[in-house]
Amino acid sequence: MDESSQVLKILSGLAISIVGFQICRKVLPWIYTNIVGPQLIGSSVNLAKMGEWAVITGSTDGIGKAYARELARKGLKLVLISRSLDKLKAVAKEIGDEFGVEVRVIDVDFTAGFEIYERIRKETACLDVGVLVNNVGISYNYPEYFLDCYKADPKFLCDIVAANIHSVTHMTAIFMPEMVARRKGVVINLSSTAGVIPNPLLSVYSSTKAFVNKFSDDLQTEYKAHGILVQSVQPGFVATNMSKIRKPSVFAPSPETYVKSALSTLGFAGQTAGYLPHALLQLVIHFTEALLGAQFARNLVLKNILGTRKRARERQAREQQKKQ
Ligand SMILES: NC(=O)c1ccc[n+]([C@@H]2O[C@H](COP(=O)([O-])OP(=O)(O)OC[C@H]3O[C@@H](n4cnc5c(N)ncnc54)[C@H](OP(=O)(O)O)[C@@H]3O)[C@@H](O)[C@H]2O)c1
Repeated sequence: MDESSQVLKILSGLAISIVGFQICRKVLPWIYTNIVGPQLIGSSVNLAKMGEWAVITGSTDGIGKAYARELARKGLKLVLISRSLDKLKAVAKEIGDEFGVEVRVIDVDFTAGFEIYERIRKETACLDVGVLVNNVGISYNYPEYFLDCYKADPKFLCDIVAANIHSVTHMTAIFMPEMVARRKGVVINLSSTAGVIPNPLLSVYSSTKAFVNKFSDDLQTEYKAHGILVQSVQPGFVATNMSKIRKPSVFAPSPETYVKSALSTLGFAGQTAGYLPHALLQLVIHFTEALLGAQFARNLVLKNILGTRKRARERQAREQQKKQ
């Protein structure tokens, strides 16, 4: 064997080892947390054993309501927290009648200021809360450049931080002390795929969701030894009011389909897309970044989002014309 073929043999051996190492390090855990664990083994986290009550924010619609229904189905009593009292009462009755569990409601606006947390603390003071779902979140009406967004409504940028970040932080601070004292509890935080992939033109929204991922990750490290499970859930599109998608599909499932899937990942993944097609979508974007470069992936997403912005602005112009 000549020298060049020997070098070739060593290099190909090295390449095979690197690929093999990457498969063991990244691909196998991905398969376990997204397919084998949730779909073949099933979550072993017994939510009903965490405590008598579950608290869910933003729970009159969409993903929050779907979490409320699934937790009631498991026998937990519920505290639903949203803005509109009428909607809260209607949803409380619907879920209470269907699953035969007690449902209480608290009407607060998570953009209203710090005082709301004192009210929530007081109204839940004697409840044994074992599950907290920090679901409430708001987003842009449509993708927009940061400066145009600020010019149109500067207060909105305060509101989005209050609803998406302060709510998660303060609700956790209210309910985790008791969980820690009892050495059991589950905190589920709704992030978004927007928090883990490039997301220009939704920059403030996606940054609030990146906060949720980081906060959840570090919180889990701090309190794992205290028996607390913290999960950050990162959906892609789900057919809700927020996404404005009416008809569910494989890549934009109904909130019920999404939440059933997300709950099956509990105990397998601290950070999860929560639903296999969304996990695949994240994977494709991360592979594009790795193979073709981060800038290529950013430009690809930007082009796509600019298309969404153009269509949304045209729709808005048509609606305004109709009104005149
Ligand atoms: N849908 C998606 O495609 C998607 C994708 C990724 C991540 N997410 C995340 O998933 C979570 C839920 O989204 P969703 O699509 O289910 O939203 P949604 O359908 O718009 O429902 C939002 C819920 O939050 C409540 N809410 C809104 N603003 C509030 C405020 N200021 N104070 C109190 N309650 C408020 C609403 O109730 P009232 O109107 O009665 O107050 C409603 O119950 C959010 O954190 C979102 O960022 C959603």
